[in-house]
Amino acid sequence: MSVRIAPSILSADFAALGDAIAAAERGGADLIHIDVMDGHFVPNITIGPPVVRSIKRVAKVPLDVHLMIEEPDRYIEAFAEAGASMISVHVEVLPHLHRTVHAIKSLGVRAGVVLNPSTPVVALEEMAADVDYVLVMSVNPGFGGQTFIPRSESKVRAVRALLDRAGNAAPVEIDGGIDRDTAPRVVAAGARILVAGSAIFHTPDPERATRELKAAAQAALATPTAR
Ligand code: DX5
Ligand code: ZN
Repeated sequence: MSVRIAPSILSADFAALGDAIAAAERGGADLIHIDVMDGHFVPNITIGPPVVRSIKRVAKVPLDVHLMIEEPDRYIEAFAEAGASMISVHVEVLPHLHRTVHAIKSLGVRAGVVLNPSTPVVALEEMAADVDYVLVMSVNPGFGGQTFIPRSESKVRAVRALLDRAGNAAPVEIDGGIDRDTAPRVVAAGARILVAGSAIFHTPDPERATRELKAAAQAALATPTAR
């Protein structure tokens, strides 16, 4: 399996999202990662379904929507209708995670479950066979440009092992502080979808940054220690 790069538009210029997405796609972006924040679950506020719908019209690659909101069940259908191909929800806000994951799937959308840095991997145990992907947060959600939490590496390994035990080949995604230094480490740990915001859009050339990040990630995949 190859590594997919999911540029996060959170760090892009919101007045020129179409240009940002096109540049990332020219650089080899496999997905576009869209961070939805409600000012409650996380301190920041970002975007909702109408913006996702507009992005869907211009993006060539699938949209990976990361819901950092309370009561995500109320909005899943709207994001699916807006064009999300993947929707991830935080385990921390969901007492009925099984119901939510299957509600996402029933809409024809890939269902992901997200773990905050302080949430133990065991929180996923009963859902390991059901999820389409697992998103490991390697920063506390809310803002781009934060420093990668080193412990996330072993967490990716633990999530991969849990999925393997459940016989689930679902990929592990990682989000927060991913750049050309951390990308090879998380790929070696088993991550196969890499989200990156500032490492791509806070550079003078997002196309090139995407290409170089992808190359660094793919190179790690080729090393003998990588799984
Ligand atoms: C943080 C978001 C991330 C963010 C990552 O809450 O979930 O997707 O955009 O930004 P960087 O790559 O700058 O850490
Ligand atoms: Zn995100």
